[in-house]
Amino acid sequence: MSKKLKVGILGATGLVGQRLALLLEDHPWFEVTDLAASDKSTGKSYEESCSWKLPYPMPVNIMRIPVKPVKPNLDCDFVFSSLPSIIAGEIECSFARAGYPVISNSSSYRMEPDIPLVIPEINCDHLDLIPFQQKNRNFDKGFIITNPNCTTIALALSLAPVVKSFGVNSVQVTSMQALSGAGQNGISSLDIIDNVLPYIANEEEKVETEPLKLFGNLRKDTVEYANFIISAQCNRVNVSDGHMLTVSVNLQTKAGEKQIESAFNSYISPIHYMKLPSAPEYPVVVTSEKDRPQPRLDRYISDGMACVVGRIRKCKVSDYKYVVLSHNTIRGAAGAAILNAELLKVKGFI
Ligand SMILES: NC(=O)c1ccc[n+]([C@@H]2O[C@H](COP(=O)([O-])OP(=O)(O)OC[C@H]3O[C@@H](n4cnc5c(N)ncnc54)[C@H](OP(=O)(O)O)[C@@H]3O)[C@@H](O)[C@H]2O)c1
Repeated sequence: MSKKLKVGILGATGLVGQRLALLLEDHPWFEVTDLAASDKSTGKSYEESCSWKLPYPMPVNIMRIPVKPVKPNLDCDFVFSSLPSIIAGEIECSFARAGYPVISNSSSYRMEPDIPLVIPEINCDHLDLIPFQQKNRNFDKGFIITNPNCTTIALALSLAPVVKSFGVNSVQVTSMQALSGAGQNGISSLDIIDNVLPYIANEEEKVETEPLKLFGNLRKDTVEYANFIISAQCNRVNVSDGHMLTVSVNLQTKAGEKQIESAFNSYISPIHYMKLPSAPEYPVVVTSEKDRPQPRLDRYISDGMACVVGRIRKCKVSDYKYVVLSHNTIRGAAGAAILNAELLKVKGFI
């Protein structure tokens, strides 16, 4: 058996960092060898520094790893970054410049023209931007790739069968987003108990623009954005994990109800044949029960890596509407980043 690639996690003590640590515990290709976080955590072991929030034990193999500063001298072949966006840009660039591939969850570089924003099931060809990025930015072996915002991932994955089969003119989406989406120090209980918060900073802008890059066409060294429009309204609700969205779509090519259902039900992703370890068998799972999906009941379908679509029906304003759910720290962040790393390995970038 070939040796596993060594992995560092930047922001290892946060909610996404913890998910990364857990999902990588028995990964067949990767092993965690280094962990980094803020000054408050450095110098202590991971076990001492991290306020573990997941309902599974902390992986034994990383408990005693000392947490280091986020400096590009870690013992690893590549890094996952789960740093707050406000500081991620400079730090991720310093790692890429020092020769590390960086797989980022943060928003800092998502919309930069030479940085791939990737959901493997949608646009794995966008990784071909990497050589242009390295040339543009004078990176030698290092580079940066990103996964989208957690709400974008749920929306884009669920739209993939529709875009492929019929094309889309416009999308209206309303999100009900979980508390873990706001990070470990996110929302105070007094603000959210018995309440819904109708504003999440910068979220609607991300959900309205990132899908256009994801569904865009790669033209040599740039991505030509898809030309549909999205209107998003994002809300924070009192749910621990799992973002739920209600979506209405206006189609380019009109379709009957049976055709829409069949497009969702028969959707096979273009990376299906690769059999990547973290790829769900079906990235879009359709539920037929009239009151599903629900976060508490459905967020762990396909180990949290699928989006679950339900209530597909005609819309009086657009053409069709449906509900979609996806686990925000798994499919929307850590799992998405790991899937991107697996794709990078298969394509020979790491
Ligand atoms: N949560 C989600 O569902 C989700 C989904 C998609 C994308 N994201 C993105 O993923 C990133 C991480 O999110 P999160 O929810 O895991 O946040 P979080 O729980 O707040 O964790 C932030 C991590 O960054 C570290 N950090 C903070 N300030 C730092 C500094 N100045 N220098 C070095 N390290 C620092 C923290 O270390 P200490 O513990 O030492 O402070 C912690 O490990 C964010 O960019 C977020 O937007 C999150």
